[in-house]
Amino acid sequence: MSNTTQTEALYQHAKLRIPGGTQLLSKRPEMFAPDVWPAYYREARGCEVWDLDGNHYFDMTHNGVGSCLLGYADPDVTSAVTSRIQHGSMCTLNAPEEVELADLLCEIHPWADQVRFARCGGEACAVAVRIARATTDRSVVAICGYHGWQDWYLAANLGTADSLRGHLLPGLAPLGVPRELRGTAVTFEYGNRAAFDALIGTHAGRLAAVIMEPCRYTDPEPGFLEHIRDQAHAAGALLIFDEITIGWRLCHGGAHLHFGVHPDIAVFAKALGNGHPIGAVIGTQQAMDGAHGSFISSTYWTEGVGPTAALATLRKLKAQGVCAHVARIGEMMKETWRAAGAKHGVPVTVAEGYPCLAHFAFDHKLANEMKTAFTTRMLGHGFLAGSAIYPTLAHTEEVVSRYAEALDSVFAEIADALARDRVTDLLEGPPAHQGFRRLL
Ligand SMILES: Cc1ncc(COP(=O)(O)O)c(C=O)c1O
Repeated sequence: MSNTTQTEALYQHAKLRIPGGTQLLSKRPEMFAPDVWPAYYREARGCEVWDLDGNHYFDMTHNGVGSCLLGYADPDVTSAVTSRIQHGSMCTLNAPEEVELADLLCEIHPWADQVRFARCGGEACAVAVRIARATTDRSVVAICGYHGWQDWYLAANLGTADSLRGHLLPGLAPLGVPRELRGTAVTFEYGNRAAFDALIGTHAGRLAAVIMEPCRYTDPEPGFLEHIRDQAHAAGALLIFDEITIGWRLCHGGAHLHFGVHPDIAVFAKALGNGHPIGAVIGTQQAMDGAHGSFISSTYWTEGVGPTAALATLRKLKAQGVCAHVARIGEMMKETWRAAGAKHGVPVTVAEGYPCLAHFAFDHKLANEMKTAFTTRMLGHGFLAGSAIYPTLAHTEEVVSRYAEALDSVFAEIADALARDRVTDLLEGPPAHQGFRRLL
């Protein structure tokens, strides 16, 4: 790793040419270690990454922001996609793979009858919300969690309060979102039945849908999802589960299958295509009725790579038992963080919850500086590392052992710096950003 590299020079240029530097907040180097984190890759394979300067890293972070559950450039997915490309991935006619994928998704989720496709997660959520509004002929949507950048979602922040605080990031100003959408999106807190019931009471009769992740890091309280579903239905609204991050990871299909609570509509993206853009909205025939009459249509929703990749991905996820594998690797990572923290007296809390989305935090007044220093030092050992890992099929026990060795040495450095009250000396740039902000 070195500082003034091709990788870093390109990112400095990008910030002038591309507002915000990257297309996704989570891929901004500033979110990890400003001036140090490599912005660009030349090659990504399995859980290994090479940057533009030829530096090699093991990716122990979110692995393509949760998109590559089989690992990067999975050979089976690549081979299926390559064949589709060689036969033409776009045409005046439609790709038959989308029908095969629709059938497969309904087979895995027997409560669902129909499917529409998009290419990205937020876009698929927007499609689901449009369908729900069209089906119910109502406007208001009750939101819990993050569902994308679109107007329908950020409209929740058009009021006087920062309603999306606690759902993704605090302070997401709804700049550019029409003020007239005020009151069309309202939020509720996960697990808080009383608050949800109050919300339903206020908006019943105008509520089109409730959209939420069935779970994120931990199981819902028994009966919570059933309560939401029953209350939503009693109010004449549809229940939409956003499975974009947790889907396929916790169990094969949506996490809702694991809890036995079926929504009216569910949304998938990310891991569905293992790095190739594909999003799916599945629903009951009744819930999807609005999709017949509402104009929902886009050229690239018809290309063939997305559904081809999804078919190959779903088959391999199942055949390889990927959920069990990532749970095992995630548990190993949690134990590695715990053990290194205890050995060196570095104050870390390893989050309870699903190992497929394992994470930890530093407990210190300089937690963000410690996290940035940790990331910076781990880069020097050849690891992309932050405070969370979404393990993939490509992560082996051997990779975790190599990570543990590097962590031992980096935590020793941090412990030493802590003892001397010199944590900030470990930084090679400013501390990481903790949320969205304007870059220039
Ligand atoms: C639960 C959930 N919904 C929606 C989205 C948005 O998906 P995308 O970034 O593909 O637009 C994300 C992305 O992180 C997500 O985690």
